[in-house]
Amino acid sequence: MTQDRFHAIILGAGAAGLMCAAHAAAQGAAVLLIEHANAPGEKIRISGGGRCNFTNTGVTPAAYLSQNPHFCKSALKRYTHWDFIDRVQQAGIAFHEKTLGQLFCDGSSRQIVDMLCDDAEAAGVRLALRTEATEITREESGFRLAIDGPDGRREIRCANLVIATGGKSIPKMGATGFAHDVAGLFGLSVTEIRPALVPLTFAGETLERLAALSGVSVFGAAMAGGMRFEEALLFTHRGLSGPAILQASSYWREGEEIGISLMPGGCFEALKAMRAERGRRNVVTALSELIPRRLALQICAVAGVDGNLADMSDIALRAFSEVVENWRLKPSGSEGWRTAEVTLGGVDTAGLSSRTMEARDVPGLFFIGEGVDVTGWLGGYNFQWAWSSGWAAGTEIAARG
Ligand code: FDA
Repeated sequence: MTQDRFHAIILGAGAAGLMCAAHAAAQGAAVLLIEHANAPGEKIRISGGGRCNFTNTGVTPAAYLSQNPHFCKSALKRYTHWDFIDRVQQAGIAFHEKTLGQLFCDGSSRQIVDMLCDDAEAAGVRLALRTEATEITREESGFRLAIDGPDGRREIRCANLVIATGGKSIPKMGATGFAHDVAGLFGLSVTEIRPALVPLTFAGETLERLAALSGVSVFGAAMAGGMRFEEALLFTHRGLSGPAILQASSYWREGEEIGISLMPGGCFEALKAMRAERGRRNVVTALSELIPRRLALQICAVAGVDGNLADMSDIALRAFSEVVENWRLKPSGSEGWRTAEVTLGGVDTAGLSSRTMEARDVPGLFFIGEGVDVTGWLGGYNFQWAWSSGWAAGTEIAARG
């Protein structure tokens, strides 16, 4: 690479960076995409259990957490989930809806990485792997970067600099707080950041009870911070996981309780109907027909309930159902950055344009993707934010060509 001046330099060849680079370059911008890992799009590759839940048919701003819930609206409206679905269809990638509007590749998430890399290459994006920016300085006509790569250290310049280095989740994969550091360098604020979409951990007696159920999963509901998510719950040797818990984790705060329903469809009515039908059935046996037996056994033991359904009055049945439907538990923490799918919080949107993702006070500096204080629910929402925010910045950069 001999060229040392670019219209745009994008740091981070993940979901947002690849989209931004390909889109800006397709409209004629000279773009250099810098990635410190050995390969682009590594998080896309491992996402969705290797099948990449690349978007959701129900994308709505309400599915995103941010100090400014309105910020994501413009980008999500300008480049929608239907736009990305069109691109995936054009690329001939087969996909299916798994549940709740979540779209997954039929084959491999690598197809999405290849599609984005092919788009970038076809548009003339230069990709520098195993390369890092060690210094970033603002100049009159843009930015000067000192970069370190396989060819050694050199200086390069650009009119527009895009920070697409993601968040802090899964440091083992090279995730860092680089975006937050760069924001600080240029005087932008960063909101409180914390691991999100993460399993919750427990201690003491509660952990003993949960760990005894390790491996059991049930369709349930998890409640935290005024939100309720009905999806699968999974008991683990550290506490609770599964989609419902991951969703609730984004709303939970240390010291607070979470609520768990093991029968969101309603326990009282179901047991009452069973009592009317065959009242001599044992409560544990009856509950085992509705939820996994190991779980039924433990709930009955904890609630001190035994005997036949017929021996339980409506009041007793209701009190027992309350235990099943509204179990209150206090997590001791979460599994943290090691397993969190995303970073909650990030570069404060107050300092960014919602239309272009450009820093209001630093012309030419853009932040996109997970590094920004916009965090989606589980289910393809985070990739959609990466595509939409990357497209918004790419459009603006190309327009300045
Ligand atoms: P992303 O992390 O994709 O890219 C950032 C890039 O910048 C990386 O390639 C990184 O190596 C690079 N980088 C970091 N620091 C750098 C530096 N200093 N210099 C140069 N490069 C640097 N979401 C979803 O919608 N559906 C899903 O199925 C899943 N599944 C999933 C599974 C797992 C295990 C995880 C951890 C996460 C998910 N996610 C997800 C979340 C999703 O992966 C995430 O929201 C997006 O990848 C964010 O896109 P970004 O481009 O912002 O960051």
